[in-house]
Amino acid sequence: MKAVVARDYGSPEVLAVAEVPVPLPGPGQIQVRTAAAALNPADLRSLSGVLAGLAPLRFPHIPGSDFAGRVTAIGAGVDRFAVGDEVFGTALPRETVQMASMFAAPPSLTTGTVAEYAVLEADTPALALRPAALAADRAAALPIAGLTALAVLRAGRFQPGESVLVVGATGGVGSAVVPLLAAAKVHVVATAGAADEAYVRGLGSAEVIDRHAADLVAEAVRRRPDGFDALVNTALPGSRLVDAGRLLRPGGRLLNVAFPSPDPGDFDGCDFTFETVYGGARLGDLDELAARAADGTLPVSIGRRYRLEEAPRAYRDLVREHTRGKLVVVMGA
Ligand SMILES: NC(=O)c1ccc[n+]([C@@H]2O[C@H](COP(=O)([O-])OP(=O)(O)OC[C@H]3O[C@@H](n4cnc5c(N)ncnc54)[C@H](OP(=O)(O)O)[C@@H]3O)[C@@H](O)[C@H]2O)c1
Repeated sequence: MKAVVARDYGSPEVLAVAEVPVPLPGPGQIQVRTAAAALNPADLRSLSGVLAGLAPLRFPHIPGSDFAGRVTAIGAGVDRFAVGDEVFGTALPRETVQMASMFAAPPSLTTGTVAEYAVLEADTPALALRPAALAADRAAALPIAGLTALAVLRAGRFQPGESVLVVGATGGVGSAVVPLLAAAKVHVVATAGAADEAYVRGLGSAEVIDRHAADLVAEAVRRRPDGFDALVNTALPGSRLVDAGRLLRPGGRLLNVAFPSPDPGDFDGCDFTFETVYGGARLGDLDELAARAADGTLPVSIGRRYRLEEAPRAYRDLVREHTRGKLVVVMGA
């Protein structure tokens, strides 16, 4: 099969399309003919080698977590899915099994989804049947960004009418957080480049702060001198978050999504709460995301589609180019 392959750690430059053996499912696993896969910054973090001490990658390594596809084979003991099922979801690189003790529940694992075939653990809430009304490319764009946005909604316990600043509204997570907050009747103020103002307003943002033209903190203080009820960060490095926290009213909530996340101790003595939110799947979460995509409360934003042969360039674009929403690789397109 064709797959995007890295033969060593490095930047996206180490990725190339190559012929590799089709992975076969073991007990408890399914094999999927991948229809589409979405890219995530985490794919490149694993590739960079920062986790090499905890979970060394096995090379050749195939990146990719988010996917949609059809089940083509099942391993012994799998009764949740059958051959022919259309499924979607997400999973971590299989080597992450070495970090299993760090997770509350064993992580769902994959051989890598930016490939014509992938093998995944079947018994996980991070996999679900794909409704026929949800096209494969849109389904592949949903899991990590959508699950993270759902986790932000739960952690933030937002009330209608609250004022929430979303820093980094145009990326994968931001493009999912903004519409879910707007659907919860929150007043969203988003940071984005000027060229993206119409895009983030279309997602449901009531106000937009141009992150290039203005000093973000000064402009946000000007807009809300009494402070925001909450700030959702998908973009700023941890070192800037203590300063950004002064945009919050006393007792406000700072919810961080971006990696690497700061040390919670950095916020000792602050008059706001701080939490890094992680997007894990609970049973039914993917069904909820699919339902919200169908009813329009979660528009699935695909910034660009690529063929499998173009996927190494797609990863370079994820790092170097300005992107909107998700970058999706469509197999056979
Ligand atoms: N906690 C979790 O479970 C979880 C899950 C998924 C992702 N993440 C992390 O969350 C972050 C975002 O992920 P993603 O998939 O949304 O990435 P993404 O698609 O690459 O989007 C990143 C966004 O940040 C914006 N941005 C970058 N620097 C900025 C700045 N200084 N001020 C304002 N906006 C800025 C970018 O806008 P421009 O293009 O205009 O620069 C872009 O909209 C990453 O660090 C990722 O690793 C965490």
